[in-house]
Amino acid sequence: MIVLGIESSCDETGVALVETSQARVPALLAHALHSQIEMHQAYGGVVPELASRDHIRRVLPLARQVLAEAGHALADVDVVAYTRGPGLAGALLVGAGVACALGAALGKPVLGVHHLEGHLLSPFLSADPPEFPFIALLVSGGHTQLMQVDRVGSYQLLGETIDDAAGEAFDKSAKLLGLGYPGGPALSRMAQQGDPAAFKLPRPLLHSGDLDFSFAGLKTAVLTQTHKLGAELEARKADLAASTEAAIVDVLVKKSLMALERSGLQRIVVAGGVGANRRLREQLDAACAKRGVRVHYPELALCTDNGAMIALAAAMRLQAGVQEATPTYAFDVKPRWPLQEIVA
Ligand code: KG4
Ligand code: ZN
Repeated sequence: MIVLGIESSCDETGVALVETSQARVPALLAHALHSQIEMHQAYGGVVPELASRDHIRRVLPLARQVLAEAGHALADVDVVAYTRGPGLAGALLVGAGVACALGAALGKPVLGVHHLEGHLLSPFLSADPPEFPFIALLVSGGHTQLMQVDRVGSYQLLGETIDDAAGEAFDKSAKLLGLGYPGGPALSRMAQQGDPAAFKLPRPLLHSGDLDFSFAGLKTAVLTQTHKLGAELEARKADLAASTEAAIVDVLVKKSLMALERSGLQRIVVAGGVGANRRLREQLDAACAKRGVRVHYPELALCTDNGAMIALAAAMRLQAGVQEATPTYAFDVKPRWPLQEIVA
């Protein structure tokens, strides 16, 4: 079975083809991505209307590209999958509309996928795929959650952020440091030249005893520091970036270890854009190695939004029998959509 996946929830248009087989994990045949980062950069953040219009321009050329790369014709596609939510409504509607139009034209079923399930399952496309059950640390621009994943469709929320997401903390702090958008990678690059112990920044909820996160206070602390530094900020930017990154990573690592301990599981999957962060990977790897815990990441190119994870999630849901693809082409999108709603 060949699944075409379309991702258009935010500022990346992604299209991919995966094929299910006798093997346990579906294989990625081809994937293509267009990032809108350059277009939004002039505005310091994502402009939803521009995002939607650009998805319209990109999605079909990208679909043609992956089909050509995989050596398949459109008629070979068995199922068309798209991101149904969460995300920007207008952006989601582009992918959903194109997917359903393709499905209707081809007479093939369609399937709406939860964006976070895509992130969560994306490490299955890596050279070293995980096995169920595992703890998942989902750290994206909009979400920070710890989950227990027992199988496809079984996602138990253990803890989440009560305010900003980890990615948001990176992005907002980067903005305060004048590092532009998207802030995470920029702040992380700058942090490499700084001292992570230079500034004492808060680690909110570090000792709360539960698995929840809070990052809004950290952003305020960074703002206060920038004011205190005044003209000195320029010279101390790398130190402040490194200290901010260290504060975010410390909390993510500590809570991940707590989740592992409490569940008794020996395996953790890290997914979502912040999973690309080098310090997070180093610290988590070191802490887990000490405890004999296996850590799995998606391939670096599949950490941030992409079509491969959407095609994969659809294929895995179909394979596991937790959802059916339907030949009905009336669609809706869900800009706000808790992952718990799709638990099977
Ligand atoms: O998963 P994603 O691509 O989109 C969402 O679904 O939100 O995540 C984007 C987030 C942004 O906040 C971005 O700043 C952050 O991931 N990010 C990083 C890094 N690469 C991306 N944060 C820290 N370090 C990075 N290397
Ligand atoms: Zn995402």
